[in-house]
Amino acid sequence: MNLILFGPPGAGKGTQAKKLSIKYDIPHISTGDILRENVKSETELGLEAKKYMDKGELVPDDVLINLIKNRLSEDDTSSGFLLDGYPRTVPQADALDDILDELDKPVDAVINLDVPDEELVRRLSGRRLCNDCGASYHVEFNPPEKENICDLCGGQLYQRDDDKKDVILQRLSVYKKQTYPLIEYYEDKDVLMTIDGTGNVDEVLNRINTLLSK
Ligand code: AP5
Ligand code: ZN
Repeated sequence: MNLILFGPPGAGKGTQAKKLSIKYDIPHISTGDILRENVKSETELGLEAKKYMDKGELVPDDVLINLIKNRLSEDDTSSGFLLDGYPRTVPQADALDDILDELDKPVDAVINLDVPDEELVRRLSGRRLCNDCGASYHVEFNPPEKENICDLCGGQLYQRDDDKKDVILQRLSVYKKQTYPLIEYYEDKDVLMTIDGTGNVDEVLNRINTLLSK
């Protein structure tokens, strides 16, 4: 199964992708995670990307297109893939079409998670991540047992730099201008499935699974 998880910042793409990747046994490819790993290890790519990520701007298309082309050529995508956070612009989507044509891996579905802005801000501003294992929590919706300590590994929780209120608002504005047009792009290709992304994590997962099994 070749899937794209689409939606605004905080819609729950990463949360759902982790579960779907296990269920369908396909790799979860998050461009945000790949970029953050590069920032952490201070690679050339990471140092360049950080300038944009800290401000809530998109990293330039040529960087992302190159990154995704390399990632999709790896062997573990032979039985499918789940893209999370890519594409985010029309040039990225056009490039993806070419890459997938060449690899003969057509997209089966683009799952668009629909969540109102107010809820997105609440989800993003309350998100906390484990510094050691990367597990994701929410101060209100999915709090750890001990404040700021990961239930799974005992690591310290932190807040992403771009989950501060002013950067969240910038990310939402960038989404509307640069990424939202892709909804029509994929509607025209007849692969878009919009689902209600509100409600708890399992409710949303059930809606996705129901649509995928049709
Ligand atoms: P990226 O990491 O992709 O960030 P994003 O798209 O803004 O998405 P998020 O990770 O913030 O949200 P999510 O939808 O995954 O939500 P989550 O499941 O964590 O990108 C970061 C930056 O990298 C970009 O700004 C850009 O600079 C750069 N970048 C990345 N890809 C790029 C590209 N293709 N082109 C150019 N630049 C790129 O959930 C959020 C919170 O809500 C969590 O706390 C979670 O526990 C909670 N939650 C989830 N689901 C529910 C639910 N149903 N109910 C209650 N709480 C929930
Ligand atoms: Zn942890």
